Amino acid sequence: MYPLKRNRRLRTNEAIRSLVRETILSPNDFLVPLFVVEGKGVRQEIASMPNYYRFSLDILEKEVKELWAMGLKSVLLFAMIPEHLKDNKGKEALNPKGLMQRAIKTVKNACPEMLVMTDVAFDPYSSYGHDGIVEDGEIVNDDSVEILTGMSLSHAEAGADFVAPSDMMDGRILSIREALEDEGYTNTGIMAYSAKYASAFYGPFRDALDSAPGFGDKKTYQMDYANRFEAIKETEMDIDEGADIVMIKPGLCYLDIVREIKNEVDVPVAVYQVSGEYAMVKAAAEKGWLDHDAVMMEQLVAIKRAGANIIASYFARDAVKLLG
Ligand code: PBG
Repeated sequence: MYPLKRNRRLRTNEAIRSLVRETILSPNDFLVPLFVVEGKGVRQEIASMPNYYRFSLDILEKEVKELWAMGLKSVLLFAMIPEHLKDNKGKEALNPKGLMQRAIKTVKNACPEMLVMTDVAFDPYSSYGHDGIVEDGEIVNDDSVEILTGMSLSHAEAGADFVAPSDMMDGRILSIREALEDEGYTNTGIMAYSAKYASAFYGPFRDALDSAPGFGDKKTYQMDYANRFEAIKETEMDIDEGADIVMIKPGLCYLDIVREIKNEVDVPVAVYQVSGEYAMVKAAAEKGWLDHDAVMMEQLVAIKRAGANIIASYFARDAVKLLG
């Protein structure tokens, strides 16, 4: 007796495999994180993120034109703030002539159709490296939300299409949405980092922006990675408060959460494959222990297969080059 049903028939060669393939990556899937710094002609490699750079605005201009030509149409901006401009209240975050605000304008001038999203959190602006105001060693919620709201308005005014609050304070989506409506920014969207876990995978990012917390950790606002139900609660609340897109972060270790949220909600789901995930692949590949491109593609397809409609990834450029 031989089996009548042979699953291997559908795996015989690349033609049949590609005919029945369920998940296909395209440049449309990606959101490209970009780090900006002050200066001119600056293209600094980030030590713990090989082949990833901080750009000054003149170089950023070239970079986004290249991305656009490759079919990458959305960017997520992060600004590296010089130490002397940091304080407890993230005052510089509200500066209409601040680096982030100028970066938004630079991208829009260079490439008007490029979708510009901005990270809204004040850890890069905070002398404590926290995402909120510190009082007596604690991160206070409501006063921080006020500043995050001002920051969002400032980004909208500079021309951001979407603001992406990554701070995990309670109630910030509602506050930001109301302020945007009140000020007439009705078309400015919100991509909420909804299920953002307190993760050790953010290490290289904090090197990139010099934004590591000066004391303690972020466990009183970012989520405990042992939790599942909480992720759904956070996401549903953000949608109720007015989020257009929700995000889960990090990626690979959290694909169970991605699928669960994808099954629950009716808004687009974004996944952030974070700096530590990028660094791990680069390091193993440098040692010759893993095949860089193969592992990269496997991870990105897995993220999409799990339910991501949007993938924020430092691999966006490499992956799209490989897609051809
Ligand atoms: C800012 C922010 C962080 C990341 C995105 N926005 C760092 C953090 O929360 O500590 C991490 C991204 C990455 O690791 O790639 N709040």
